[in-house]
Amino acid sequence: MTSDSAGAPGAAGEGERLQKVMAAAGVASRRVSEDLIAAGRVTVNGEIVTEPGRRVLPADLVTVDGTAIQLDPTRRYLMLNKPVGVVSSLADERGRPDLRQYTKNYEERVFNVGRLDSQTSGLLVLTNDGDLAHVLAHPSFGVSKTYIAKVQGDVTGRTLNLLTAGIDLDDGPIAADKAKVIGRPSAGQSMVEIEIHSGRNHIVRRMLAAVGHPVVELVRRQFGPLHLGSLGVGQIRDLTKVELGDLLTLSRNATEPEDIR
Ligand code: URA
Repeated sequence: MTSDSAGAPGAAGEGERLQKVMAAAGVASRRVSEDLIAAGRVTVNGEIVTEPGRRVLPADLVTVDGTAIQLDPTRRYLMLNKPVGVVSSLADERGRPDLRQYTKNYEERVFNVGRLDSQTSGLLVLTNDGDLAHVLAHPSFGVSKTYIAKVQGDVTGRTLNLLTAGIDLDDGPIAADKAKVIGRPSAGQSMVEIEIHSGRNHIVRRMLAAVGHPVVELVRRQFGPLHLGSLGVGQIRDLTKVELGDLLTLSRNATEPEDIR
C-alpha cells in the first residue's frame, strides 16, 4: 500500500520532514534518506511513503527495510553487564550496591527492564522508554533470554529432555525453550546453556535445582535480539542503531497473547 496523498497524518505542515528525522536518527544522510524514500524502502505507520516532503511526528512508526527507527531523541537505550553482588534496583532500601552507580552519569532517568538476581551477572537493559520496557519485561510477550549456568553434577541428555519437556515447580509448570550442555569445566560440573521466555523469580536456578543440578554461577548472555558480546562485567554502553532497530521492531510487532508466564 502507498500513501503519498495530502491529508495523511503529519502531511499538513506539522512535524518534521521524513528525510530530516531519518538523518537525525542516524539512518543515513538526508540525501541518502531521500533515495531510500523514493525507492519505497520506508514506511510510516505501516504504509510505504515515496513522497520526500512527508512530515512525521515523534509518535509515528517509521521503518526502513522493515526495521523500526526511533524518532524521539529523548529516548535512551543502554546495555549493562551487571556484576554479581549488584541488586537490580535504582535505590536499594538496604543500602546494597545497586544500579545507581551505572545510571547516575546519564541525564535521562533510565530504569532497568526486568531484573537479574543479585548473584546473577549479565545482560540488563536500561531505558526511559516505558512502552518498550513493558513489552520486553512482560512474560506474555515471550521475549526469550539465554543463560549460561555452571552447575553441579554431570548433566545428561535425559535431564536436558526433562527441562524442555517441562517440570513442575511450586508456582506451576515450566519448560525451557532450549537446553544444551556446552562444556564440563571440571570433574562433577557442567556448563548448560538454557533459553527461556519466563520472567518468574529465580526461574533458571529453581529449574536446574529441581532436576538435581544446583547452580554455581549464572550469566545472562542474550535478551531478545541483544547479545552481551564482549561487554565487560560492570560496563555499560548505548545500544547500537542496529540493536535498537531490532528491539523496536520486536516491540512494535508484539501482540499481547494469553498469559503464559
Ligand atoms: N533466573 C534466575 O534464576 N536468576 C536470574 O537472575 C534470572 C533468571
